[in-house]
Amino acid sequence: MKDVVPKYDAIAERYSAHDYADAERYYARRAKLVVEHGPRLGAGDSVLDIACGDGGLGRQLLALGLDYRGVDASEVMVEVARRTLGDRVGPGMFDYVPPADVDATTIFRSLYLVPDRRAFLARVRSFTRRKLVFDFDPRAYSTGELIADVRAAGWERVELRPFLMPQRVKLPRLVQTALWSVEPMPGVRLLTRVRFPLLVSASE
Ligand SMILES: C[S@@+](CC[C@H](N)C(=O)[O-])C[C@H]1O[C@@H](n2cnc3c(N)ncnc32)[C@H](O)[C@@H]1O
Repeated sequence: MKDVVPKYDAIAERYSAHDYADAERYYARRAKLVVEHGPRLGAGDSVLDIACGDGGLGRQLLALGLDYRGVDASEVMVEVARRTLGDRVGPGMFDYVPPADVDATTIFRSLYLVPDRRAFLARVRSFTRRKLVFDFDPRAYSTGELIADVRAAGWERVELRPFLMPQRVKLPRLVQTALWSVEPMPGVRLLTRVRFPLLVSASE
C-alpha cells in the first residue's frame, strides 16, 4: 500500500480542523463510546490509541479519567499531539507493541491502512486485556470478513453500532441529539448502507 505518512505530515498542523467539521464534539462523542461500547471502561483504565493522529481523542479520554497513550507513524502528527499530551504520545507504526499490557486498544479511521489485518489484530489481542474499539466504513469493506478476522484473533464478543455523527458536516444540535438517541435502536444500522461508519467493540 502507498505510504500515506507524508500526506499526514503535510496536514498535521491543521489536521483536526481540516478533517472534522466540529472536531472537539466528534472526539468527545467517540471518547464516550470508547468507554461505553462493549465492556465498560472505568477511571484509570489504560487505553492505547494506534494511529492517533494529532491526539484529539486523547484529550477527551483524559478528561474522562482514562490513562491515555497514543502512537502514530507521522512525526509531525506526534509533534502536534505532544503540545497538549506531552510524552503520552510517541512515534509508532501499526506493529507497535506497548511496554505493558493495556485495558483497551483503539484504532480510528485507520484500520483500512493496515497491510496485514489478521496479523495486526492478533498482535493487538496479545497485549489488550479488555477490548479493542475501532470504526470502519461498511460500504467500502465487508463487515462479515472483518468480523471473521476479529474472531480469528481470539475475540468472541463482537458488538457493532452505527456512529451517527457526520464527520465533515455540523448538524443543528437538535438533529444531532436526535440521531444519537436512535443510534442503539434495532434497524438503525440500515442507515450505514448510505452513510456513517460502524463502531466495533471486540472483547472476550
Ligand atoms: C485518517 S488519520 C486518523 C487519525 C485519528 N485516528 C483520527 O481518527 O482522526 C490516519 C492516521 O494514520 C497514521 N498512519 C498512517 N500509516 C501508519 C502506520 N503505518 N502506522 C501508524 N500510523 C499510521 C497517519 O499518520 C494518520 O495520523
